[in-house]
Amino acid sequence: MLNIVIFGAPGSGKGTQSERIVEKYGLDHISTGDVLRAEIAAGSELGKLAQSLIDNGQLIPDELMVSILAAKLDALAGGKGVIFDGFPRTIAQAESLKKILKERGQDVTAMIELDVPEDELMDRLLKRGQASGRADDNEETIKKRLVVYREQTSPLKEWYKNEGKHCYINGLGELDRIFADIVAAIDSKI
Ligand code: AP5
Ligand code: MG
Repeated sequence: MLNIVIFGAPGSGKGTQSERIVEKYGLDHISTGDVLRAEIAAGSELGKLAQSLIDNGQLIPDELMVSILAAKLDALAGGKGVIFDGFPRTIAQAESLKKILKERGQDVTAMIELDVPEDELMDRLLKRGQASGRADDNEETIKKRLVVYREQTSPLKEWYKNEGKHCYINGLGELDRIFADIVAAIDSKI
């Protein structure tokens, strides 16, 4: 089983590169942001809670997020592996993912960090906000998302370095070059 964590700040290209990774390696894709946006669109209780947090650039509580992730994973059982996009986002989530996979006789194969400077992230997300209307792509919320990334999520780089899984990718530039670097990184961990 190939389990890839795609990691990076808001707008770093996790979703964009996940599509290509899915196609090349035949993996299932779990984007926790997409799961939450689907709940918001469906008007569920979870969606209502998620909306207030996402609009404010804040994270959904770990315990809730971990149970959503575990349920998604069980619903997929049987594929070649999974690309985790937007999860884990805290050390507690990383520890839970390790435990959840271990219970299934698996592990994370590689953690792919897409590194992109903050001015570029802001540019990309403001552009996407204009084109797609995604509610959290406005300047005020993007700034909050970047602070949450710096404070709560970026410590995962060290955590995955200690696990021997971390792969650094320069996420600035051409999509094809970035994807080629990702493939080389994944293949070095298989
Ligand atoms: P989530 O949906 O995961 O959003 P995010 O992390 O803020 O990241 P984005 O989806 O905005 O960016 P991306 O890295 O996927 O980049 P993309 O490929 O789209 O999470 C949203 C919210 O949900 C969170 O804030 C939180 O509230 C909640 N949440 C989700 N998961 C959670 C969890 N585990 N725990 C708690 N809360 C959670 O690219 C961005 C744009 O740039 C696109 O327009 C794209 O076309 C463009 N682009 C991509 N690559 C390039 C390139 N190389 N050059 C130029 N443009 C590019
Ligand atoms: Mg995304």
